[in-house]
Amino acid sequence: MRKAKNSKSRTIFVTGGAGFIGSHLIDNLLKKSDNIVSIDNLNEFYNPNIKKLNQVNHYEYDHYEFYKGDILDEGLVKSIFKKHDIEIVIHLAAMAGVRPSISNPSIYTEVNIIGTRILLDAMVESNVERLIFASSSSVYGNNKKIPFYEDDSVDRPISPYAATKKMGELLCHTYHHIYELNISLLRFFTVYGPRQRPEMAIHQFVRNALNGEPIIVFGDGSTARDYTYIDDIIDGIIQSIEFDDRYMIYNLGNSEPIKLSNLILIIAEATGTDPIFEYQEIPQGDVLQTYADINRAKNNLGYDPKTGIRDGISKFVKWYISMKNTHEDVY
Ligand SMILES: NC(=O)c1ccc[n+]([C@@H]2O[C@H](COP(=O)([O-])OP(=O)(O)OC[C@H]3O[C@@H](n4cnc5c(N)ncnc54)[C@H](O)[C@@H]3O)[C@@H](O)[C@H]2O)c1
Repeated sequence: MRKAKNSKSRTIFVTGGAGFIGSHLIDNLLKKSDNIVSIDNLNEFYNPNIKKLNQVNHYEYDHYEFYKGDILDEGLVKSIFKKHDIEIVIHLAAMAGVRPSISNPSIYTEVNIIGTRILLDAMVESNVERLIFASSSSVYGNNKKIPFYEDDSVDRPISPYAATKKMGELLCHTYHHIYELNISLLRFFTVYGPRQRPEMAIHQFVRNALNGEPIIVFGDGSTARDYTYIDDIIDGIIQSIEFDDRYMIYNLGNSEPIKLSNLILIIAEATGTDPIFEYQEIPQGDVLQTYADINRAKNNLGYDPKTGIRDGISKFVKWYISMKNTHEDVY
């Protein structure tokens, strides 16, 4: 039986709701009794059956409505705004990932830039003011000054993906200025945890370690990432919904960069394996390090990441093994 909602609830429109971050966010919001309208085109960037599995719990709720569709379909997006009394938009749909954006920049610019413009226009047409936009730590490029602070210059992206996220931020600012939209921009720092995209490093490393396959190490292991556990990111997104910004950028990270060599040791320990390494050059587009200054999010939103890397990796490994046992066809 589908679960019923409270009578007094808001309608939140989540784009990219079948993806890694979007599906966790919806799980969480549905429990809070918000009406959720979601769109996702279930594209083949990675196995769409993974995305369908991500959504299974969502259908338990009667205050959930899903559109399998493309944010580039302007007619569809506008019709969703006309049909539902949307108060808040959380825009997560995007072509994600740095390396594939180099081989296929066209789809990245279409979805991440034009898709964002379509959404903003639909909001304006339907008088919807509140937007949370998923940006990325990649906009900081190879900035030397660490930790990365929201007001640092982000004029030197080094991948098409990063450039499209920066362009999304600029469009948001423009629509905020002209139409007074109320927008929070969240720069996520390498998110990991259950349902993480299969091409992302932690997911790949754990899979390869457990399958006895080599782990590809780009560079000498000294690059570093500020890995952020999914539950902390979801808390940050929800805190930002409740905080009334006019236009504000927030870093959502863990503020504790981990070197690649160290990450691999932690994964080896968590999987009980003795991994084989294959060293390759650092690919174009990959930044050398990320490190978030999270003081603004702490002070304004009450953001307070709680999951350290060892704990987070061990939770990921447990989840991965259970999925592999139950859904070997997809994992
Ligand atoms: N995961 C991270 O570490 C990370 C870091 C920084 C920023 N982000 C951003 O957070 C958001 C979510 O990332 P994720 O890791 O959950 O990725 P994801 O690929 O799992 O989720 C994105 C979802 O958007 C959907 N989508 C893509 N193009 C679409 C289109 N044209 N129309 C409708 N749906 C479409 C995909 O099918 C997918 O389900 C993205 O905007 C990403 O750029 C993620």
